[in-house]
Amino acid sequence: MQENIRDLVSKMTLEEKASICSGADSWRTLPIERLGIPTMRMSDGPHGVRKETGETTKPEDGFPTDRSYPSTCYPTASSLACSWDRDLVTQLGKALGQECVAADVSILLGPGMNIKRSPLCGRNFEYFSEDPLLAGEMGAAYINGVQSEGIGTSLKHFATNSQETNRMTTDSVMDERTLREIYLANFETAVKKAQPWTVMSAYNMLSGTYCSENGSLLTDILRKEWGFEGIVVSDWGAVNEMDDSIAAGLDLEMPAGGEDSKNKIIAAVTSGKLSEQALDEAVGRLLQIVFKAAQSRKEKKPVDPQEHHELARRIADECMVLLKNDGVLPLGKGGKLAVVGAYAKEPKIQGGGSSQVTPTAVSIPLDEIRKAAGTGAQVTWSAGYSAGDGGAEPEEALISQAVAAASAADTAIVFAGVPIESEGWDRDNMRLPEGQLALIDAVAHAAKKTVVVLMNGSPVEMPWVDRVDAILESGLCGQAAGEAVADLLFGTVSPSGKLAETYPVKLSDTPAFLNYPGMCGRAEYREGIFVGYRYYDKKQLKPLFPFGYGLSYTTFAYTGIETDRSDFGENEALKVRVKVRNTGSRAGKETVQLYVRDVQSSVPRPDKELKGFAKVLLQPGEEKAVEFTLSRRAFAFYDEQIHDWRVETGEFEILAGGSSADTPLKAAVTVHSTHEKKVVFTRNSTAGELLADPLGAQIIRQMAGDAFSIDELPAYVLQMPLRSVHMQMREMNEEQIARLTALLNAER
Ligand code: BGC
Repeated sequence: MQENIRDLVSKMTLEEKASICSGADSWRTLPIERLGIPTMRMSDGPHGVRKETGETTKPEDGFPTDRSYPSTCYPTASSLACSWDRDLVTQLGKALGQECVAADVSILLGPGMNIKRSPLCGRNFEYFSEDPLLAGEMGAAYINGVQSEGIGTSLKHFATNSQETNRMTTDSVMDERTLREIYLANFETAVKKAQPWTVMSAYNMLSGTYCSENGSLLTDILRKEWGFEGIVVSDWGAVNEMDDSIAAGLDLEMPAGGEDSKNKIIAAVTSGKLSEQALDEAVGRLLQIVFKAAQSRKEKKPVDPQEHHELARRIADECMVLLKNDGVLPLGKGGKLAVVGAYAKEPKIQGGGSSQVTPTAVSIPLDEIRKAAGTGAQVTWSAGYSAGDGGAEPEEALISQAVAAASAADTAIVFAGVPIESEGWDRDNMRLPEGQLALIDAVAHAAKKTVVVLMNGSPVEMPWVDRVDAILESGLCGQAAGEAVADLLFGTVSPSGKLAETYPVKLSDTPAFLNYPGMCGRAEYREGIFVGYRYYDKKQLKPLFPFGYGLSYTTFAYTGIETDRSDFGENEALKVRVKVRNTGSRAGKETVQLYVRDVQSSVPRPDKELKGFAKVLLQPGEEKAVEFTLSRRAFAFYDEQIHDWRVETGEFEILAGGSSADTPLKAAVTVHSTHEKKVVFTRNSTAGELLADPLGAQIIRQMAGDAFSIDELPAYVLQMPLRSVHMQMREMNEEQIARLTALLNAER
């Protein structure tokens, strides 16, 4: 703690210290005038600055939220991650930071980092990916951008908050390896690479302890292991017992906890349950951030809404994913187009809940299509379903009008999407509403060519996939989504988004299908580390569209892979160069993805895991080499027996390509572990374990002599504990076992 802060804390009364650990109101920390301690204002993000006006929306508008001042609505995290572009995300972060300065907000509550365990999670649109590396990198890029403007962020929701059902009480139960490899690795990357000013503790419990009072999470892992230097703020209303939270490493309860929270802290300190030193440390950390915010505070400077809208459009252009194209796209100018669907006029641009911002402007896809198609074009519009319920039931009259328009056109463009995606509840299926399904079927049947534009923050089943000619996943792409859809449909921009999550064929194919969202207050993560593509790969289950996939208007060829070494120790870095060429006739961007496969392992591992990615712009015919550096962690798994990351000696394959299902390049390397695991032998060690040890094998070989061949022992013998070998086969007595294990356990 800095000297001046320590000094300030020493001047505070117990009551002042207990009070400042809870918010003053919904968004601000408590100022203490007597000591010159200022307040600090927070505001929701992540994809826009939601500074409230003080009025509340009516519940029938959806999730009841307070109205907010207009701010730019950028693509949501689910779309943003499809850009796979760190620089772009940092640019977005900077723009958000500037909007915070303009709104006099010091901390923006984002990014959302949770792993997409099931497509049903209502808040998936606020999260980046099913993959921890991609999520972590996107989060770090976002934080670096915002914080470069002198505005803090809040990395949320720490941790294992991957469902909305019973989110405030549910207990996420999983093994340590799953926690480390999947649900914490993303946070770890963001903390280590970007040092967010704050981390927001999640509502739920982790293995029986509320995350907001989980000392292992908030202190041991976050601070001691990862070196987090900021404060832990609770999700709004997430604190269970305030004194336990402070003891565990939480610094600030939000919103205002009032007298109860203060009194609990005072009573706990007075009774000795909570040490005053723990409280002082929390207050010291909090003051450090409060003063940092005050010192970074700049004069309010308005942003140019038009300039930020243009940025929102440029970002959206990079985030939409072309899923299918039988050649109908890009559309030419002129011709007859039938635009169908209520969302063409009332686009879905974001989800509901605390992240929902009031946009400064919204571009309308239909208008943008009209502009892009040019004056010679004939563009009609028919609703097809009503925007209100998104087509819960088919409306025959609306469908007939759409069919008539589609049959008279060269191409029909159907806008479809999920009516409600929101914080606060999960979806109960992955289907589009019946009215939209009937519409797509009818239009696809009647039209010469059908293009579907999807507007959703989480995958939907597409039983119509083979009946349409093209599909553009426009995601929830913010207030400039209308312009971006037109940019991509007409080819002003070549699509370059790639899926940041697997699109399964159907809900029952998904990894958590049998256990989501849990029961009796427990969400058991029984699929373990096999989340997203890690699951589909291993099960050999073909998804509808794989992780990392997305089409372009040009084509790319992967032409070469080289590594700077092929045999190395786990602490040496490996450099990998991947060459990719644009083989088409127009410029385009490709995201080169690097995966690592452990060829043989003592534990079940995914078929491959993403360990690097880079997005490159290539002119027609141009070839570029992309360089990646892989360090120890790229080869490691989390070993529950030693509670640490471990690399096993052996062969690994480095795979490169344009999606998780298409990795044409391969290089094989051998990695040597320098920390071979020390096995402790006991009378319950198996014969197989003994034989796996070089000295053990040598001893047994000697003992066996010509009596039996140790290379041909049947499995049931190999799996026998030594005490049983002794009992059943009379090969060794207890004393011999004791001597043998002592010999093997001795330092060698
Ligand atoms: C959400 C947070 C949000 C907070 C403040 C909570 O309900 O989970 O993400 O930042 O409210 O609005």
